[in-house]
Amino acid sequence: MSLDFLQQRISTQTARLGVIGLGYVGLPVACLFAEAGFNVVGVDLKAERVNAINAGISPIEGREPGLAELLATVVAEGRLHTTTQYADLHDCDVVTISVETPVDEQHVPQYVALRSALRDLGPVLQSGALIIVESTIAPGTMARLVKPLLEESSGKRANVDFYLGHCPERVMPGKLLANLRGVSRVCGGETPETAQTMIALYRHIVQADLDPADCVTAELVKTVENAYRDVNIAFANEVALICEAVGGDVWKVRELVNKSPGRMMLYPGAGVGGHCITKDPWLLAYEAWNKIPIRLIPAARAVNDGMPLHILKLLEETLEIAGKELEETRILVLGYAYLEDSDDTRNSPSEVLATWLREWSAEVLVHDPFVPGYQGNVLAMAQGCNAVVVMVKHTEYQNIDLRALRAALTTPIVVDGRGAFSAEQAQRAGLIYRRVGQG
Ligand SMILES: NC(=O)c1ccc[n+]([C@@H]2O[C@H](COP(=O)([O-])OP(=O)(O)OC[C@H]3O[C@@H](n4cnc5c(N)ncnc54)[C@H](O)[C@@H]3O)[C@@H](O)[C@H]2O)c1
Repeated sequence: MSLDFLQQRISTQTARLGVIGLGYVGLPVACLFAEAGFNVVGVDLKAERVNAINAGISPIEGREPGLAELLATVVAEGRLHTTTQYADLHDCDVVTISVETPVDEQHVPQYVALRSALRDLGPVLQSGALIIVESTIAPGTMARLVKPLLEESSGKRANVDFYLGHCPERVMPGKLLANLRGVSRVCGGETPETAQTMIALYRHIVQADLDPADCVTAELVKTVENAYRDVNIAFANEVALICEAVGGDVWKVRELVNKSPGRMMLYPGAGVGGHCITKDPWLLAYEAWNKIPIRLIPAARAVNDGMPLHILKLLEETLEIAGKELEETRILVLGYAYLEDSDDTRNSPSEVLATWLREWSAEVLVHDPFVPGYQGNVLAMAQGCNAVVVMVKHTEYQNIDLRALRAALTTPIVVDGRGAFSAEQAQRAGLIYRRVGQG
C-alpha cells in the first residue's frame, strides 16, 4: 500500500487503527480516533484492563472529564474493541504505540515494553502500514532501536514495506481528552511524506497545530519540554529554600517576580512525581552523556528529588514547637497521587515522605480521594493525629474546614507542601502552620 492510498483511507476514515498500550496515553487516543469514526483495536498485556474497557468501563480512576462517557459510547457503538492478542492487529493500516518508557536507577532508559511491543507487532504487520511511536523516547531511539527492531521482527523494510513516525504525547492526567484535542503536536516522520500522512491522521482528533518534523526533532522536542519544566520547578524549589533561609515568602516573591516582563517563575512544592517529568530529562541527556558535560539536568533532578526530605525537615521543626519528637507522633499525609485530582501515583513524592517518616518510627496514615486503598474521611482520619502534611493540592483538601481539622488533631500542626492554604486562613483556625518556602 502506498502512502497516497493510506492517506485516502485516512481521509475517508476507512483506515483500521491499532493502539498498543492502553494507559493514560493510549486509552484516550483510542477513544478519540473511535469517536472520529475509525474502527480501532486496542492491545494491552493486562487482561483486566482489556476486559474493563470492553465492558465500557474506564480503568482510569482520577477526575478525567468526558473520558468514561466517551469510552462507554465508542465501545457500545462497536468502534473500539480491545484485546491482549497482537494477531488482531493483522489488518491495521496504522498502529500507534504508547507503552511505558521508564529509566532505571542509573537513569538508563528501560525499553523492555517498547522492545516487546515491536517484537510482537512485527510478525503481524500488514504491508504498507504506518507505525507511530507515541511513547516518550531518548533522542536517537527511532533510528537506533525502533527501525532496526521492527525491520527484523517483520522481515520488511522501513519506508518501502512500512512507514515509521514518532508523535510524542503532550497530555497531563486530569486533562487527557482536552489536551489531546487542544494541544499542538509534532509529527516526526522518517520521511517528509510520512510526516504529512501523520498530520492527515491526527487532524481527525487534534484541533491545534500539527507540525511536521523528522523523528529526532520530535524526540528532542518532547524530552526538552519536560526537562525544561523540571529545571524550572527546581529553580522555584531552590528559591523556596533560599526564602526560608533568609526569612522571605516564596509565594509573594514569585507573584512579584512574575510582574517583571518575560519572567514566569513556577510554583515550588513538595516534590515532582509522575511517569514523565521524573525521567524525561534523563532521556534527553542519555545519548549525549559521554560526549558533553551535562550539569543542569542532574542538578535540577537532585533539587526536586530532595523536596520530600525537606518537607520532613519542616515537619520536624514544627513538631518541635509543640514539644514533640517525630518518633512519638502519628502523621496524616494528604495526597498520594503525584498530581492534583489525579489517581496517578507513579513516583509519588508522598511515598518517599511516608517511607522516611516510617524510618523515623512515626505512625503514618495516608489519604487520597482518588487512589483505591487510601480513600476515607479526612477529618475522621485526622482524629488523634499530631500533624497533617499536605503533599497534593486535591480540590477536596482546599475545601477542608480548618477549624474542624484543628479540633481533630492532638497537636494542631499543618505542614503545607503545596500552598493549599494561606497563613491567614491557618491562623484564623488556630493552627500551627508551616508552608514550604515561607521563612
Ligand atoms: N502519562 C502521561 O501523562 C504522559 C504524557 C505524555 C507522554 N507520556 C508517555 O507515554 C508513554 C505511555 O505512558 P502512560 O502514562 O500511558 O503509561 P501507562 O503505564 O499508563 O500505560 C502503558 C500501558 O502499556 C501497556 N503495555 C506495556 N507493555 C506492553 C506491550 N508489550 N504490549 C501491549 N501493552 C503493553 C501496559 O500494560 C499499560 O497499560 C510513556 O512513554 C510516557 O512517557 C505519558
